[in-house]
Amino acid sequence: MAKKGDEEVIEKVMYGYSVETSQLEEENRILKQTLEHMKGELKKFQTPPLMVAEIKEKVGENYLIKLNNGNEFYVTSSLNAGTLKSGDTVLVEQKNLTITRKISNSTLFNVEKFVIIEKPTITWKEVGGLEKQANEIQEVIELPLKKPELFRKVGIHPPKGILLYGPPGTGKTLLAKAVASSTHSTFIEVVASELVQKFIGEGAKLIKEIFQLARAKAPSIVFIDELDALAAKRIEMGTSGEREVQRTFMQFLAELDGFKSLDNVKVIGCTNRKDILDPAITRPGRLDRLIHVPAPDAEGIKQILKIHSSKMKLDKVKVDVVVKKMEGMSGAEIKAVCTEAGYFAIRKNRTIVSKQDFDSAIEKVLSSEHTEGKDFMGMFG
Ligand SMILES: Nc1ncnc2c1ncn2[C@@H]1O[C@H](COP(=O)(O)OP(=O)(O)O)[C@@H](O)[C@H]1O
Ligand SMILES: [Mg+2]
Repeated sequence: MAKKGDEEVIEKVMYGYSVETSQLEEENRILKQTLEHMKGELKKFQTPPLMVAEIKEKVGENYLIKLNNGNEFYVTSSLNAGTLKSGDTVLVEQKNLTITRKISNSTLFNVEKFVIIEKPTITWKEVGGLEKQANEIQEVIELPLKKPELFRKVGIHPPKGILLYGPPGTGKTLLAKAVASSTHSTFIEVVASELVQKFIGEGAKLIKEIFQLARAKAPSIVFIDELDALAAKRIEMGTSGEREVQRTFMQFLAELDGFKSLDNVKVIGCTNRKDILDPAITRPGRLDRLIHVPAPDAEGIKQILKIHSSKMKLDKVKVDVVVKKMEGMSGAEIKAVCTEAGYFAIRKNRTIVSKQDFDSAIEKVLSSEHTEGKDFMGMFG
Protein backbone atom coordinates (compact mmCIF):
# COMPACT_ATOMS: atom_id res chain seq x y z
CA MET A 1 0.00 0.00 0.00
CA ALA A 2 2.72 2.34 1.11
CA LYS A 3 4.64 1.57 -2.03
CA LYS A 4 1.73 2.38 -4.26
CA GLY A 5 1.30 5.65 -2.44
CA ASP A 6 4.96 6.47 -3.03
CA GLU A 7 4.63 5.70 -6.70
CA GLU A 8 1.66 7.97 -6.96
CA VAL A 9 3.61 10.76 -5.32
CA ILE A 10 6.57 10.19 -7.61
CA GLU A 11 4.32 10.10 -10.65
CA LYS A 12 2.74 13.35 -9.63
CA VAL A 13 6.11 14.95 -9.06
CA MET A 14 7.35 13.65 -12.40
CA TYR A 15 4.26 15.02 -14.11
CA GLY A 16 4.88 18.33 -12.40
CA TYR A 17 8.44 18.34 -13.67
CA SER A 18 7.46 17.59 -17.20
CA VAL A 19 4.89 20.38 -17.20
CA GLU A 20 7.50 22.72 -15.82
CA THR A 21 10.05 21.54 -18.37
CA SER A 22 7.78 22.20 -21.29
CA GLN A 23 6.94 25.59 -19.84
CA LEU A 24 10.63 26.35 -19.54
CA GLU A 25 11.26 25.10 -23.03
CA GLU A 26 8.50 27.34 -24.31
CA GLU A 27 9.92 30.27 -22.41
CA ASN A 28 13.37 29.49 -23.75
CA ARG A 29 12.01 29.45 -27.28
CA ILE A 30 10.33 32.84 -26.81
CA LEU A 31 13.50 34.31 -25.31
CA LYS A 32 15.54 33.02 -28.23
CA GLN A 33 13.08 34.59 -30.64
CA THR A 34 13.22 37.88 -28.76
CA LEU A 35 16.99 37.74 -28.83
CA GLU A 36 16.98 37.22 -32.60
CA HIS A 37 14.57 40.10 -33.02
CA MET A 38 16.70 42.36 -30.83
CA LYS A 39 19.81 41.41 -32.79
CA GLY A 40 18.00 42.42 -35.95
CA GLU A 41 16.95 45.71 -34.42
CA LEU A 42 20.47 46.35 -33.21
CA LYS A 43 21.79 45.73 -36.68
CA LYS A 44 19.28 48.21 -38.05
CA PHE A 45 20.54 50.80 -35.59
CA GLN A 46 24.11 50.06 -36.49
CA THR A 47 23.76 50.43 -40.26
CA PRO A 48 24.24 54.07 -41.11
CA PRO A 49 21.33 55.62 -43.01
CA LEU A 50 21.68 56.16 -46.73
CA MET A 51 21.97 59.69 -47.95
CA VAL A 52 19.90 61.36 -50.62
CA ALA A 53 21.76 62.83 -53.57
CA GLU A 54 21.09 64.04 -57.06
CA ILE A 55 22.86 62.84 -60.18
CA LYS A 56 24.54 65.79 -61.83
CA GLU A 57 26.28 64.08 -64.69
CA LYS A 58 27.53 60.75 -65.95
CA VAL A 59 31.30 60.78 -66.29
CA GLY A 60 32.53 57.65 -68.05
CA GLU A 61 31.46 54.68 -65.91
CA ASN A 62 30.97 56.87 -62.86
CA TYR A 63 28.80 59.73 -61.77
CA LEU A 64 29.05 63.24 -60.44
CA ILE A 65 26.54 63.55 -57.61
CA LYS A 66 25.41 66.51 -55.56
CA LEU A 67 24.43 66.19 -51.92
CA ASN A 68 21.78 68.34 -50.33
CA ASN A 69 24.39 70.47 -48.63
CA GLY A 70 25.63 71.48 -52.08
CA ASN A 71 28.84 69.44 -52.08
CA GLU A 72 29.61 67.46 -55.21
CA PHE A 73 31.38 64.10 -55.45
CA TYR A 74 32.62 61.76 -58.13
CA VAL A 75 31.33 58.29 -57.19
CA THR A 76 30.69 54.77 -58.42
CA SER A 77 27.35 53.07 -58.75
CA SER A 78 26.30 49.54 -57.84
CA LEU A 79 23.34 49.79 -60.22
CA ASN A 80 23.25 48.46 -63.76
CA ALA A 81 24.79 50.76 -66.30
CA GLY A 82 22.23 52.90 -68.07
CA THR A 83 19.70 53.08 -65.25
CA LEU A 84 20.71 56.55 -64.17
CA LYS A 85 20.51 59.92 -65.85
CA SER A 86 21.21 63.42 -64.64
CA GLY A 87 18.47 64.84 -62.46
CA ASP A 88 17.65 61.47 -60.89
CA THR A 89 17.40 61.21 -57.13
CA VAL A 90 19.48 58.39 -55.63
CA LEU A 91 20.42 56.92 -52.27
CA VAL A 92 24.14 56.66 -51.51
CA GLU A 93 26.20 54.94 -48.83
CA GLN A 94 27.48 57.26 -46.16
CA LYS A 95 31.02 55.95 -46.13
CA ASN A 96 32.01 55.83 -49.77
CA LEU A 97 28.98 57.46 -51.39
CA THR A 98 28.39 54.47 -53.68
CA ILE A 99 25.03 54.76 -55.36
CA THR A 100 22.85 51.92 -54.09
CA ARG A 101 19.35 52.77 -55.17
CA LYS A 102 17.39 55.05 -57.39
CA ILE A 103 14.23 56.59 -55.96
CA SER A 104 11.56 58.32 -57.89
CA ASN A 105 11.62 62.06 -57.45
CA SER A 106 7.96 62.16 -56.61
CA THR A 107 8.21 59.68 -53.75
CA LEU A 108 10.74 61.92 -52.09
CA PHE A 109 8.12 64.44 -51.31
CA ASN A 110 4.73 65.30 -52.50
CA VAL A 111 4.38 69.04 -52.59
CA GLU A 112 0.63 68.84 -52.08
CA LYS A 113 1.25 67.47 -48.61
CA PHE A 114 3.32 70.43 -47.53
CA VAL A 115 1.27 73.39 -48.64
CA ILE A 116 -2.30 74.27 -47.92
CA ILE A 117 -4.38 74.27 -51.06
CA GLU A 118 -7.90 75.56 -50.96
CA LYS A 119 -10.60 77.44 -52.78
CA PRO A 120 -11.45 80.12 -50.24
CA THR A 121 -14.97 81.47 -49.92
CA ILE A 122 -14.18 84.72 -48.10
CA THR A 123 -16.04 87.63 -49.65
CA TRP A 124 -14.91 91.26 -49.69
CA LYS A 125 -17.81 91.99 -47.33
CA GLU A 126 -16.08 89.95 -44.64
CA VAL A 127 -13.13 92.33 -44.66
CA GLY A 128 -13.66 95.30 -42.33
CA GLY A 129 -12.07 98.65 -43.08
CA LEU A 130 -9.16 98.35 -45.55
CA GLU A 131 -11.20 99.72 -48.53
CA LYS A 132 -8.17 101.34 -50.05
CA GLN A 133 -6.16 98.14 -49.75
CA ALA A 134 -9.01 96.04 -51.13
CA ASN A 135 -9.38 98.39 -54.11
CA GLU A 136 -5.72 98.27 -54.90
CA ILE A 137 -5.67 94.47 -54.71
CA GLN A 138 -8.68 94.31 -57.00
CA GLU A 139 -6.87 96.49 -59.48
CA VAL A 140 -3.55 94.68 -59.50
CA ILE A 141 -4.62 91.07 -58.93
CA GLU A 142 -8.29 90.66 -59.71
CA LEU A 143 -8.56 92.73 -62.87
CA PRO A 144 -5.59 91.14 -64.69
CA LEU A 145 -6.86 87.66 -63.80
CA LYS A 146 -10.37 88.46 -64.92
CA LYS A 147 -9.61 90.63 -67.96
CA PRO A 148 -6.11 89.97 -69.25
CA GLU A 149 -7.13 91.15 -72.74
CA LEU A 150 -7.68 94.63 -71.33
CA PHE A 151 -4.04 94.84 -70.33
CA ARG A 152 -2.91 93.48 -73.70
CA LYS A 153 -4.97 96.11 -75.52
CA VAL A 154 -3.65 98.94 -73.38
CA GLY A 155 -0.18 97.46 -73.61
CA ILE A 156 0.84 97.43 -69.96
CA HIS A 157 2.10 94.73 -67.63
CA PRO A 158 0.26 94.34 -64.34
CA PRO A 159 2.39 93.39 -61.32
CA LYS A 160 3.18 89.70 -60.91
CA GLY A 161 2.74 90.00 -57.22
CA ILE A 162 2.22 92.20 -54.23
CA LEU A 163 3.64 92.49 -50.77
CA LEU A 164 1.24 92.99 -47.89
CA TYR A 165 2.93 94.33 -44.80
CA GLY A 166 1.74 95.45 -41.41
CA PRO A 167 1.27 94.25 -37.83
CA PRO A 168 -0.10 90.76 -37.11
CA GLY A 169 -3.81 90.06 -37.13
CA THR A 170 -4.81 93.00 -39.30
CA GLY A 171 -6.33 91.02 -42.16
CA LYS A 172 -3.50 90.35 -44.60
CA THR A 173 -4.36 86.66 -44.97
CA LEU A 174 -8.00 87.62 -45.13
CA LEU A 175 -7.40 90.03 -48.05
CA ALA A 176 -5.40 87.41 -49.93
CA LYS A 177 -8.16 84.85 -49.46
CA ALA A 178 -10.81 87.34 -50.51
CA VAL A 179 -9.08 87.98 -53.83
CA ALA A 180 -8.52 84.28 -54.39
CA SER A 181 -12.20 83.77 -53.79
CA SER A 182 -13.38 86.63 -56.02
CA THR A 183 -11.21 85.34 -58.89
CA HIS A 184 -12.10 81.68 -58.25
CA SER A 185 -8.41 80.98 -57.91
CA THR A 186 -6.66 78.12 -56.21
CA PHE A 187 -5.09 79.45 -53.04
CA ILE A 188 -1.72 77.88 -52.31
CA GLU A 189 -0.50 78.85 -48.88
CA VAL A 190 3.13 78.45 -47.90
CA VAL A 191 4.49 79.52 -44.54
CA ALA A 192 8.04 80.60 -45.27
CA SER A 193 9.35 79.96 -41.76
CA GLU A 194 8.17 76.35 -42.02
CA LEU A 195 9.57 76.00 -45.49
CA VAL A 196 13.07 76.92 -44.34
CA GLN A 197 12.94 74.94 -41.09
CA LYS A 198 11.29 71.73 -42.15
CA PHE A 199 12.67 71.17 -45.59
CA ILE A 200 16.35 71.55 -45.07
CA GLY A 201 17.98 70.66 -48.33
CA GLU A 202 14.65 70.57 -50.12
CA GLY A 203 13.55 74.19 -49.95
CA ALA A 204 14.60 75.17 -53.45
CA LYS A 205 13.05 72.05 -54.91
CA LEU A 206 9.85 72.62 -53.01
CA ILE A 207 9.63 76.20 -54.32
CA LYS A 208 10.01 74.84 -57.85
CA GLU A 209 7.23 72.33 -57.28
CA ILE A 210 4.95 74.92 -55.69
CA PHE A 211 5.12 77.03 -58.82
CA GLN A 212 4.61 73.97 -61.02
CA LEU A 213 1.54 73.19 -58.98
CA ALA A 214 0.35 76.80 -59.25
CA ARG A 215 0.60 76.64 -63.04
CA ALA A 216 -1.15 73.29 -63.15
CA LYS A 217 -4.01 74.58 -61.00
CA ALA A 218 -4.21 78.09 -62.50
CA PRO A 219 -5.72 80.55 -62.01
CA SER A 220 -3.93 80.50 -58.72
CA ILE A 221 -2.54 82.65 -56.01
CA VAL A 222 0.64 81.63 -54.26
CA PHE A 223 0.46 83.10 -50.78
CA ILE A 224 3.76 83.23 -48.91
CA ASP A 225 3.20 84.04 -45.26
CA GLU A 226 6.04 85.24 -43.03
CA LEU A 227 8.06 86.04 -46.13
CA ASP A 228 10.78 87.60 -43.97
CA ALA A 229 11.87 84.10 -42.88
CA LEU A 230 12.89 83.43 -46.47
CA ALA A 231 13.75 86.86 -47.76
CA ALA A 232 15.57 88.60 -44.94
CA LYS A 233 18.67 90.58 -45.75
CA ARG A 234 21.64 88.37 -44.99
CA ILE A 235 24.66 90.14 -43.72
CA GLU A 236 26.88 87.11 -43.55
CA MET A 237 26.41 83.66 -44.94
CA GLY A 238 28.34 81.70 -42.37
CA THR A 239 26.41 78.54 -41.62
CA SER A 240 25.20 75.98 -44.11
CA GLY A 241 21.68 76.70 -42.84
CA GLU A 242 21.96 80.30 -43.99
CA ARG A 243 23.33 79.24 -47.36
CA GLU A 244 20.44 76.84 -47.68
CA VAL A 245 17.88 79.57 -47.00
CA GLN A 246 19.68 81.74 -49.51
CA ARG A 247 19.43 78.98 -52.13
CA THR A 248 15.72 78.64 -51.49
CA PHE A 249 15.32 82.39 -51.75
CA MET A 250 17.24 82.46 -55.05
CA GLN A 251 14.95 79.77 -56.41
CA PHE A 252 11.96 81.85 -55.36
CA LEU A 253 13.31 84.89 -57.22
CA ALA A 254 14.04 82.74 -60.25
CA GLU A 255 10.46 81.44 -60.26
CA LEU A 256 9.10 84.97 -59.94
CA ASP A 257 11.24 86.10 -62.83
CA GLY A 258 10.32 83.03 -64.81
CA PHE A 259 6.62 83.56 -65.30
CA LYS A 260 4.93 86.32 -67.24
CA SER A 261 2.77 88.92 -65.63
CA LEU A 262 -0.24 87.82 -67.60
CA ASP A 263 0.14 84.16 -66.78
CA ASN A 264 -2.69 83.48 -64.42
CA VAL A 265 -0.48 82.88 -61.42
CA LYS A 266 -0.10 85.70 -58.90
CA VAL A 267 2.09 85.85 -55.84
CA ILE A 268 1.12 87.54 -52.60
CA GLY A 269 3.84 87.89 -49.99
CA CYS A 270 3.08 88.80 -46.43
CA THR A 271 5.24 90.14 -43.61
CA ASN A 272 5.20 92.13 -40.43
CA ARG A 273 8.93 92.77 -40.73
CA LYS A 274 9.20 94.74 -43.95
CA ASP A 275 12.25 96.52 -42.52
CA ILE A 276 14.41 93.40 -42.73
CA LEU A 277 13.43 92.27 -46.24
CA ASP A 278 16.06 91.91 -48.91
CA PRO A 279 15.29 94.68 -51.45
CA ALA A 280 15.78 92.10 -54.22
CA ILE A 281 12.27 90.85 -53.48
CA THR A 282 10.56 94.17 -54.22
CA ARG A 283 12.47 95.02 -57.40
CA PRO A 284 10.40 95.86 -60.49
CA GLY A 285 8.94 92.73 -62.00
CA ARG A 286 8.83 90.94 -58.66
CA LEU A 287 6.65 91.78 -55.65
CA ASP A 288 6.78 95.40 -56.70
CA ARG A 289 3.45 96.57 -55.34
CA LEU A 290 3.71 97.25 -51.63
CA ILE A 291 0.47 97.52 -49.74
CA HIS A 292 0.43 98.61 -46.12
CA VAL A 293 -2.19 96.92 -43.95
CA PRO A 294 -2.30 98.91 -40.70
CA ALA A 295 -4.22 98.35 -37.49
CA PRO A 296 -7.78 99.63 -37.94
CA ASP A 297 -8.89 103.17 -37.08
CA ALA A 298 -12.16 103.81 -35.22
CA GLU A 299 -14.25 103.36 -38.37
CA GLY A 300 -12.38 100.16 -39.20
CA ILE A 301 -12.88 98.81 -35.68
CA LYS A 302 -16.58 99.52 -36.00
CA GLN A 303 -16.86 97.66 -39.27
CA ILE A 304 -14.85 94.69 -38.03
CA LEU A 305 -16.95 94.57 -34.86
CA LYS A 306 -20.12 94.55 -36.97
CA ILE A 307 -18.79 91.73 -39.13
CA HIS A 308 -17.89 89.49 -36.21
CA SER A 309 -20.99 90.25 -34.13
CA SER A 310 -23.46 90.08 -37.02
CA LYS A 311 -24.82 86.72 -35.90
CA MET A 312 -24.93 87.59 -32.19
CA LYS A 313 -27.98 88.85 -30.35
CA LEU A 314 -26.88 91.90 -28.42
CA ASP A 315 -28.56 93.53 -25.47
CA LYS A 316 -27.89 97.22 -24.77
CA VAL A 317 -24.49 97.06 -26.41
CA LYS A 318 -23.61 100.55 -27.65
CA VAL A 319 -21.33 100.06 -30.62
CA ASP A 320 -19.62 103.45 -30.30
CA VAL A 321 -18.80 102.88 -26.64
CA VAL A 322 -17.38 99.43 -27.36
CA VAL A 323 -15.38 100.75 -30.30
CA LYS A 324 -13.80 103.37 -28.10
CA LYS A 325 -12.69 100.70 -25.63
CA MET A 326 -11.20 98.66 -28.47
CA GLU A 327 -8.86 101.39 -29.64
CA GLY A 328 -5.53 99.96 -30.76
CA MET A 329 -6.82 96.41 -31.25
CA SER A 330 -6.17 94.42 -34.42
CA GLY A 331 -8.92 92.74 -36.40
CA ALA A 332 -7.93 89.39 -34.92
CA GLU A 333 -8.28 90.81 -31.41
CA ILE A 334 -11.67 92.34 -32.19
CA LYS A 335 -12.80 88.94 -33.39
CA ALA A 336 -11.44 87.42 -30.17
CA VAL A 337 -13.47 89.94 -28.12
CA CYS A 338 -16.67 88.88 -29.88
CA THR A 339 -15.96 85.20 -29.26
CA GLU A 340 -15.05 85.83 -25.62
CA ALA A 341 -18.17 87.96 -25.06
CA GLY A 342 -20.22 85.06 -26.41
CA TYR A 343 -18.50 82.73 -23.95
CA PHE A 344 -19.25 85.02 -21.02
CA ALA A 345 -22.94 84.87 -21.98
CA ILE A 346 -22.87 81.08 -22.35
CA ARG A 347 -21.30 80.72 -18.91
CA LYS A 348 -24.25 82.62 -17.51
CA ASN A 349 -26.74 80.50 -19.41
CA ARG A 350 -27.72 83.30 -21.75
CA THR A 351 -27.89 83.38 -25.53
CA ILE A 352 -28.12 87.14 -25.63
CA VAL A 353 -24.85 88.96 -25.17
CA SER A 354 -24.81 91.96 -22.85
CA LYS A 355 -22.74 95.11 -22.49
CA GLN A 356 -21.15 93.56 -19.40
CA ASP A 357 -20.07 90.49 -21.44
CA PHE A 358 -18.32 92.79 -23.90
CA ASP A 359 -16.60 94.72 -21.12
CA SER A 360 -15.31 91.49 -19.56
CA ALA A 361 -14.23 90.20 -22.96
CA ILE A 362 -12.32 93.39 -23.79
CA GLU A 363 -10.59 93.23 -20.45
CA LYS A 364 -9.66 89.62 -21.02
CA VAL A 365 -8.29 90.17 -24.53
CA LEU A 366 -6.37 93.27 -23.47
CA SER A 367 -4.76 91.43 -20.58
CA SER A 368 -3.78 88.42 -22.68
CA GLU A 369 -2.22 90.82 -25.15
CA HIS A 370 0.49 91.54 -22.64
CA THR A 371 1.26 87.94 -21.93
CA GLU A 372 1.12 86.85 -25.54
CA GLY A 373 4.06 88.82 -26.74
CA LYS A 374 2.54 91.98 -28.15
CA ASP A 375 5.30 93.79 -26.28
CA PHE A 376 7.75 91.41 -27.83
CA MET A 377 6.50 92.34 -31.29
CA GLY A 378 6.67 95.96 -30.23
CA MET A 379 10.35 95.52 -29.65
CA PHE A 380 10.85 95.30 -33.37
CA GLY A 381 8.66 98.31 -34.05
N1 LIG B 1 -9.89 93.77 -41.32
C1 LIG B 1 -10.50 92.69 -40.83
N2 LIG B 1 -11.82 92.49 -41.03
C2 LIG B 1 -12.45 91.41 -40.54
N3 LIG B 1 -11.85 90.45 -39.82
C3 LIG B 1 -10.53 90.58 -39.58
C4 LIG B 1 -9.79 91.71 -40.07
N4 LIG B 1 -8.50 91.56 -39.69
C5 LIG B 1 -8.43 90.41 -39.01
N5 LIG B 1 -9.64 89.81 -38.92
C6 LIG B 1 -9.97 88.53 -38.28
O1 LIG B 1 -8.79 88.02 -37.69
C7 LIG B 1 -8.39 86.79 -38.31
C8 LIG B 1 -6.90 86.76 -38.51
O2 LIG B 1 -6.50 87.76 -39.42
P1 LIG B 1 -5.42 87.52 -40.55
O3 LIG B 1 -5.99 87.90 -41.85
O4 LIG B 1 -4.89 86.13 -40.44
O5 LIG B 1 -4.30 88.54 -40.09
P2 LIG B 1 -2.83 88.69 -40.65
O6 LIG B 1 -2.69 87.77 -41.81
O7 LIG B 1 -2.71 90.13 -41.00
O8 LIG B 1 -1.93 88.32 -39.51
C9 LIG B 1 -9.15 86.76 -39.63
O9 LIG B 1 -9.40 85.43 -40.03
C10 LIG B 1 -10.41 87.51 -39.30
O10 LIG B 1 -11.35 86.66 -38.69
MG1 LIG C 1 -1.73 85.92 -41.58
